[in-house]
Amino acid sequence: MTAHHTQLQYLPADLKRELLPKHVAVIMDGNGRWAKRQGLPRIIGHKHGVDALKDLLRCCKDWGIAALTAYAFSTENWKRPQEEVEFLMTLFQRVLRQELREMLEENVQIRFVGNLQALPRILQEEISRSMEETKDNRAIRFTVATNYGGRQEILQACRAIADQVKQGLLQPDEIDEATFERHLYTAGICDPDLLIRTSGEMRISNFLLWQMAYAEIYITDTLWPDFDRAEFHRALSAYQQRERRFGKV
Ligand code: FPP
Repeated sequence: MTAHHTQLQYLPADLKRELLPKHVAVIMDGNGRWAKRQGLPRIIGHKHGVDALKDLLRCCKDWGIAALTAYAFSTENWKRPQEEVEFLMTLFQRVLRQELREMLEENVQIRFVGNLQALPRILQEEISRSMEETKDNRAIRFTVATNYGGRQEILQACRAIADQVKQGLLQPDEIDEATFERHLYTAGICDPDLLIRTSGEMRISNFLLWQMAYAEIYITDTLWPDFDRAEFHRALSAYQQRERRFGKV
């Protein structure tokens, strides 16, 4: 994040503050295609993707959105070419190291969710450090899903709960939504109100399966590196037109 604060930091006048989502989730799709279209290697698309994400984080903070969650790496992404996987791991680590100071200055709390133990050791260390140092920050909660899979998250919650039942600490009929949520990686973070997916794909792709139950979904054809404030403004306008009923009439 850089400190280029212009008039853009204010919420656009046509958006209603009281109808903003509290939590926005993004599936940042299309980095590879963005690069390919310009005859560049895929990894260059990921670099530009980082800039788009930093911009969105700053925008959410400026506009008073309390939480942003980004899908950076899925449990299926290991199947990509080895050099791309290695590039991404190094990129995450470098960006984290470079941005930590500014996250502290900007009062950003960063948190990683996913099967973090399977990540390279050096990245795990960077992750632990950034989570520890920003844990009391309150301007915005920024969650990065890395080596994340929604089904895996649900399974590990089931195992932890089953273990408590086995130990006699919990009765099966005591397992309710609140109990379950406490065992998800996202414990303590409210569910996303709005999911944005770029590059026109209409899939959830194993992202926050439990948490997404009532999220509004906004899909744009824009490729992730081109996702900017104007595009986010359109997503929020569309969200504010929706009538959210949560199953009621
Ligand atoms: C999807 O585009 C993008 C990814 C799998 C990686 C996203 C990661 C970042 C933008 C970096 C985030 C960095 C930090 C530190 C949180 P794609 O490669 O699937 O594009 P394609 O669909 O066009 O192939």
